[in-house]
Amino acid sequence: MNGRKRYAAAVISAALTVTLAGGYVYAATQHFADSTTDGAWENWVQQWEGQVRTDYEKIALTPGSNETQMNFAWYSKADGTSTPKVELSTQSDMSGAVIFEGGATPAIDGYMSNKVTAKALTENTAYYYRYYKNGMPSEVSSFRTHGFNNYAMLYVGDPQIGASKGQTTSKGDKLESDSDLNTAARNDAFSWNKTLNTAMSANPDISFILSAGDQINKNVEGKDPGNEVEYAGFLNAGWMKSLPIATTIGNHDSTNESYSFHFNNPNDTQLGKTTAGGDYFYKYGPALYVILNTNNYNCAEHEQVMKQAVAAYPKTIWRIVMFHQDIYGSGLDHSDSDGIVLRTQLTPLMDKYDVDVVLQGHDHTYSRSYLLKSDSKTHSSYDFYDWDNVTDEAGHVFPYSNAAYQAENNCYTIANKMPDSVTNADGTLYMEANSSTGSKYYELIPNQQDYIAVRNQNWNPTYSVIRINNNTFSIDTYEITGGQPQKIDQTFTLKKTNIARR
Ligand SMILES: [Fe+2]
Repeated sequence: MNGRKRYAAAVISAALTVTLAGGYVYAATQHFADSTTDGAWENWVQQWEGQVRTDYEKIALTPGSNETQMNFAWYSKADGTSTPKVELSTQSDMSGAVIFEGGATPAIDGYMSNKVTAKALTENTAYYYRYYKNGMPSEVSSFRTHGFNNYAMLYVGDPQIGASKGQTTSKGDKLESDSDLNTAARNDAFSWNKTLNTAMSANPDISFILSAGDQINKNVEGKDPGNEVEYAGFLNAGWMKSLPIATTIGNHDSTNESYSFHFNNPNDTQLGKTTAGGDYFYKYGPALYVILNTNNYNCAEHEQVMKQAVAAYPKTIWRIVMFHQDIYGSGLDHSDSDGIVLRTQLTPLMDKYDVDVVLQGHDHTYSRSYLLKSDSKTHSSYDFYDWDNVTDEAGHVFPYSNAAYQAENNCYTIANKMPDSVTNADGTLYMEANSSTGSKYYELIPNQQDYIAVRNQNWNPTYSVIRINNNTFSIDTYEITGGQPQKIDQTFTLKKTNIARR
C-alpha cells in the first residue's frame, strides 16, 4: 500500500522529521486531540461500546441540487423490505407530512443504501422528518433552513475518524483501529462531535457543512466494510441528523464504495470517478459549489464537470470549488508533493471558469493564500507515482525534488496581496483547512511559499465559518482550545460591486 511509509512517518516524535532518498522530507508529529482528558469521556466509552460503533444505519443529510432540496442517505438491513421513504413536516407532531420516496441499492454485505430527495423547501423554516428502515419509521429529527441569499456555512478539513491510531492517550493506552473496539475511531468521533457542538453553539445560523475530504481513515478497498465503524463514529455526531454536509472524496475515502452508500450527493456527474464516487455540484442561493474528486488526476474530466456546473447555473454570483489535495497549501508533506501534481492542470481551470474560492484539505495545517492566477503558459502534466515520485507525460519516474518539475510548479502569478479585503477580485483564493478533529496533524513546510498569506499550526482542531450574500464572501477561522473557539486569522473578505457581470 502506497500510504504505508507515510503512516510509519506519522508516529515518529514531534521534534523529528525524516529525510528520505531524494531529499524529500515527511512531516512527523505525535500531536493529536486526546479525547480521554474530557469530563464526558467515560460516558462516551459506554455509549461507544454499547451501540455507537456497531450501528451502521445512521442517516446523512446532503445539500440537494439547489437550496430548495435536501438529500438523505441511510443504510437499512438487506432483508428484502427496504423502504426508501422520508416524511417531512413543518410540525413536530408530523401532522400534514409530505412523503418523499427514493431508491435503495445493495451496499456492504447485509445492508441496503437508501437515498431520497426532499423538495420544495422554503427559507427560514423548521422541518421535522422521519425516515423508514424496513417498514419502520425512525424517531422524529429536525433541521432548519435559514436565508437562501444570505447564509453561513461551516468549512472543515480531514475529520479522518480513526487517524489517531498509534497515538498514546493520557491514560497510557495506545490507540488502535484493528479490533472491533477501534479505540482510535472512538477517540476521534468524540472530538468530531465536540467540534460541531462548539462551532454550532457559536454560529447557530449555519446552513450546511463543507468537508474537504478524508471523513474516515481506513482506506480499505472495494466493498470491504472495514471502515464502517469509522463512518458509524462520523455520522453519530449529534448535528449530523440536523445539518447537511457536502463532502469531497479524500485519499482515505477514495478506494472504498462505502462513501457512495453513505452520501447522496446531488448532480452526480459520473466523472472524475474513483471507487468511492466522483464529481458533483449544487447551487445554494448566490453561489455555485463544484466538488471534485482529485484522487482522479484526469483534469479533462474535472473541466467537463466545471463546464456542466456553470452551464446549469450560469448566473450565480459566486463560484466555489472544493477538492481534497491542496494545490496551494503550506503543510508537510503534501503541499510539496502530490498536491502540486494537480497544480499545473487545475490552476488555469480556476481562471477559465472564474472561480472565486477553492477549499482544500489533505495537509492537516491551516493556510490562506493570496489571490492567485495562472501564469498563462503551457505546462506539462504529471501523475502521482508513489509518495516519493511523480511521472511526467513521457512516463519518466523521478522524485518530487526534480528541478524541472519544481520549476513547472511555478505556474501561478500572485494577482492580489491585499491583507484582509479585496473588492472585485481578479484571482482565486485558496484555503487549506487544518484537521477539524485533531485526529492527525502535520508540520508546516519549513519555507513558507510566496503564495501563502497566512498559515498556522497550533495542534488544535480548527474550523472556518464562511458567510455569503450577493455582495460579500467572508471567512473566519477558529481553533478550539479549552473547549472554546479562538480566532487564528483575521476575517478575510471578498466583495463584489459588479454582480451583474454574469
Ligand atoms: Fe487526511
